[in-house]
Amino acid sequence: AKQQIGVIGLAVMGKNLALNIESRGFSVSVYNRSPEKTHDLLKEAEGKNLTGTFSIEEFVASLESPRQILIMVQAGKATDATIEQLIPHLDEGDIIIDGGNAYFPDTQRRSKMLEEKGLRFIGTGVSGGEEGALKGPAIMPGGQESAYELVKPILTAISAKVNGDPCCTYIGPDGAGHYVKMVHNGVEYGDMQLICEAYHLLKSVLDVSAEELHEIFTEWNKGELDSYLIEITADIFSKYDEATGKPMVDVILDSAGQKGTGKWTSQSALDLGVPLSMITESVFSRFLSAMKEERVAASKVLSGPQTATFEGDKKEFIENVRKALFASKIVSYAQGFAQMRAASDEYGWDLKYGNIAMIFRGGCIIRSQFLQNIKDAYDRDAGLKNLLLDPYFKNIVQTYQDAWRKVISAAVAHGIPVPGFSSALAYYDSYRTERLPANLLQAQRDYFGAHTFQRVDKEGVFHHQWF
Ligand code: 6PG
Repeated sequence: AKQQIGVIGLAVMGKNLALNIESRGFSVSVYNRSPEKTHDLLKEAEGKNLTGTFSIEEFVASLESPRQILIMVQAGKATDATIEQLIPHLDEGDIIIDGGNAYFPDTQRRSKMLEEKGLRFIGTGVSGGEEGALKGPAIMPGGQESAYELVKPILTAISAKVNGDPCCTYIGPDGAGHYVKMVHNGVEYGDMQLICEAYHLLKSVLDVSAEELHEIFTEWNKGELDSYLIEITADIFSKYDEATGKPMVDVILDSAGQKGTGKWTSQSALDLGVPLSMITESVFSRFLSAMKEERVAASKVLSGPQTATFEGDKKEFIENVRKALFASKIVSYAQGFAQMRAASDEYGWDLKYGNIAMIFRGGCIIRSQFLQNIKDAYDRDAGLKNLLLDPYFKNIVQTYQDAWRKVISAAVAHGIPVPGFSSALAYYDSYRTERLPANLLQAQRDYFGAHTFQRVDKEGVFHHQWF
């Protein structure tokens, strides 16, 4: 008998997805370029409905028609090479599913190329790391809807569930799924940055211990901030290094890595002309953190403000930081969703923002209770321009702004960088300002380059003789 789906690429994500698919009652063929990984998996999965294959021909021949082939190889060249290898063996209507972290223009290109050959292509975001892949990730598939209908039973079966709803939904044509996964990662960067700024403030201003940090974040996770990232942060503060006895966070070098998807989100924002400032600050912050040696040298020559020890109400400060974090998080998501709207218009994707929020509720790294509120906002108004305009979010940001401003003032006074908190507030203040100083900017452009301007009092294009 032939198998229902094939998985190519048995590194940890591919392997775990294959096991996940099998565990939901589907038969799976697996193939890996080097046979060792296939042998290892077959040994580990003895007795399971997994069929090992050792050539592309054997792999393709083992699959039911139309074939469903999930490729889980490295994004970029390896994905192209795998697709090229498959093409000569496939029949019209067969479906290739790319579950890697592909750059969305690559997915658009591959989609077009395969469609011209009569093949179907699904580019899908898969979030949730290794454990998610095995137990239930969030899945963001893009491509032809007819192809999605065929792969839907397997994709929804393996996805995470929230109240019984699968965290998998059709996103839109060609690169839409990978685009949404990319924005997910940008938002992930933003969330992580905001949490790190809260940590920095609490540690530097209040001098709290890791134990207290563990308690604070555990408490925060019971309220509005309830999310996977806050939960693991609380847990991180409870772990100690065996060798030194110090909290693990204190022995880890403060130099952030990145694989690039957050950067892609910012690059796309610049291309689309979308002010994705908070997430972009979090990309920049990773760059700055990675300049470790330069910072160490600078710390010896550049001084900050003289600060007195904190004499205010400690509990109140902690609560203000929580509010600043939540208000900033709202702005970050408002920016991310506004960017998806711009991309949807630009690329003709017709994205459904409420559905996207809904599948982010479980399985993925940014999963949280808060995404239900975003879903509700789009249920109230599917055409919502900006999340800040939704009554629920508007109310929170307005009532939290005092705390938000106080926290940023305290950070500035203490010389503690809070690029995420402050860029989020600057966005809020800019967005709600009827008249920004861009009138002067237009005057300058017209002054030095005769770039012209519009007037507030009549229609038309004007130029002033400035000199
Ligand atoms: C996920 C994650 C994942 C991402 C890592 C690494 O949704 O499971 O977003 O896809 O690759 O988090 O990202 P950086 O190395 O860029 O931090």
